[in-house]
Amino acid sequence: MSTSKNTDALEPKRLPRHVAVIMDGNGRWAKKHGVTRLRGHEAGAKAVRAVIEACRAIGGIETLTLYAFSSENWRRSKTEVSGLFRLLSKYIRLELDNLNAEDIRVVFIGQTKGLPKRVIADLEESRELTKNNRSMQVNFAVNYGARAEIADACRAVAEEVKAGRLQTTNIDEESVARHLYDPSSRDLDLVIRTAGEMRLSNFMLWQASYAEIVVTRTLWPDFRKRHLYSALREYQARTRKFGGRRGR
Ligand code: FPP
Repeated sequence: MSTSKNTDALEPKRLPRHVAVIMDGNGRWAKKHGVTRLRGHEAGAKAVRAVIEACRAIGGIETLTLYAFSSENWRRSKTEVSGLFRLLSKYIRLELDNLNAEDIRVVFIGQTKGLPKRVIADLEESRELTKNNRSMQVNFAVNYGARAEIADACRAVAEEVKAGRLQTTNIDEESVARHLYDPSSRDLDLVIRTAGEMRLSNFMLWQASYAEIVVTRTLWPDFRKRHLYSALREYQARTRKFGGRRGR
């Protein structure tokens, strides 16, 4: 569990290239502060801004993936779900110019089915506007579930077979990986989960196969640069083995 608080130097050569955050604890933060859950999510949106800025400033982190709305989040009250989507749209509209000015590419991963038209349009606009940006990629996982992503990829593989472009005997990991929602994103190096829960919650199960997982008790709305640095230092202190004997 990550505890260190300062922003000591990191080893630039050992930075994770793909970092993801399971942003958890907005509700607990709201309860702690005696405000509505929606206010907790709004406070969470401020942390999103801070963490994107910090990752961009560090340099070397190529992709940051943020779990904004899971396919299971539909089970929440209608008020919370529509509030979350309104917040997401507001965030994108407010931040898009900044993200673009920072040369950040915005990508959406998840299923569009069921999403409000406004959200789909905002995500599409941000993707289109930033598609040639190169400093960093930010993936927003919205209506995302890893099992659905893998099932969707399998369906696409089956279509390739049906069309005669692929033989079943040639299906391998690469055949599935090229149909993931963003095939250009490399495997995850580091998954950070806030609010102390030690689970992946149907998040990037394929891409997280060899990821290091850092869990912090900090609630997402309180998460800032120093917590990110702490997680990155914990990552750098790990030995990655990828199933072998030595780290690489
Ligand atoms: C988990 O907290 C968080 C979410 C379900 C939504 C994440 C959304 C944001 C951080 C705000 C908007 C996002 C963007 C990208 C601008 P929880 O409600 O499950 O917390 P709890 O477990 O304490 O109840």
